[in-house]
Amino acid sequence: MKKPIWIKYISQLATLNSDVKGPRSKEAMSDLGLIEDGSLWLEDGKIQAVGTTDELSERYADRIQEAEIVDATGHLVTPGLVDPHTHVVYGGSREREFEMRLEGATYMDIMNAGGGIHATARMTREATEEELFEQTTRRLDSFLQHGVTTVEGKSGYGMNLETELKQLRMMKRLQEAHAIDLVPTFMGAHAVPPEFKGREDEFVDHIINDMLPIVAEEKLAEFNDVFCELGVYTPEQSEKILEAGKKLGLTPKIHADEIEPYGGAELAAKVGAISAEHLLKASDEGIQAMAKAGTLACLLPATALYLREDAAAGRKMVDEGVAVAISTDCNPGSSPTTSMPLVMNLACISMRLTPAEALTAATYNAACAINRQNVVGSLEVGKQADLVLWNVKNYQELQYLFGVNHVKAVWKKGVQVVS
Ligand code: NIG
Ligand code: FE
Repeated sequence: MKKPIWIKYISQLATLNSDVKGPRSKEAMSDLGLIEDGSLWLEDGKIQAVGTTDELSERYADRIQEAEIVDATGHLVTPGLVDPHTHVVYGGSREREFEMRLEGATYMDIMNAGGGIHATARMTREATEEELFEQTTRRLDSFLQHGVTTVEGKSGYGMNLETELKQLRMMKRLQEAHAIDLVPTFMGAHAVPPEFKGREDEFVDHIINDMLPIVAEEKLAEFNDVFCELGVYTPEQSEKILEAGKKLGLTPKIHADEIEPYGGAELAAKVGAISAEHLLKASDEGIQAMAKAGTLACLLPATALYLREDAAAGRKMVDEGVAVAISTDCNPGSSPTTSMPLVMNLACISMRLTPAEALTAATYNAACAINRQNVVGSLEVGKQADLVLWNVKNYQELQYLFGVNHVKAVWKKGVQVVS
């Protein structure tokens, strides 16, 4: 039997425990369930008790001898961060495109010339299983070093059945091999592959008839995502793919209104998507429709910065009652980062979320965006013991000292994985 772990004297424990269950919006995003001089008892991979150091000292008085004790004086402790939107499984890299964009090319110029997503699709198709495993493992290690303990990952760099399945099966293998929990999303409609140029509707049918049924049958994904964007998939095509996925038990997600306003936010509300992502150019009507439908906004401020675009209207979305989550969008083109702490900083700086809202967006609401809120995203009795000990004393300092990795230690399922 492994020893229990008793973490005590935590200067500030942000439990994220609140009466609001399910996506948090408005004031509920500021409720961090703070405990000063906090304490946690971890056992069997789960959180067994949460309270003040005094409360737990009394409760576990006769078991303290058996525990491994961690003194967290001067430190903040939060739930493990959750990244609800990544493209973490891919081959190769695209540093030349970074230079090209600085020289004036746009993201869409590069993609339409056969680069961008198409370039990564070629490199992912060519990558061997072992190369893909090794490359992705390095990125997952980096996520963990940045305090992230759960990561959603999308396919979409295959755009043919074989490679889409290769990416999704790789996620299954990594779920077994790596400490991080991976949540898989199918994204066959990430771009239109060159073989189907001019025959977009045929590719949509191919996704619906030949790809989705196998993905569902093999239980390779929980979510179904589409790049609904001018020049990629229309709202009508996107709706068709998302509705087909729904019939097979896959929950819709949408890359919406990233480059142009295109009705993606409205579509997310209409199809009952769990979340709409990006939303840099979302319309006011779209934001209102999302608030009404209870669709989460998954905002990606590192992508906006990297593409040198204005960030999404995060402040406005929170004020209008949309529950906001944030994510790295980790991918080789528009956001090659694994740093959720940087994304929290940017959520404050470029979207005017408060430090408390940014933490909720990166933990509890992020868990809601991938339907994991009953397992992770807050520190509550019975939940997975996924937590981060930070080299700062409170949550404001975490967001204020920006661009720095403040992680001191990480526990995943009660096991210390970063020290
Ligand atoms: O979320 N916009 C579409 N997909 C990704 C970028 C993928 C890539 O450039 O490789 C995104 O930004
Ligand atoms: Fe993305």
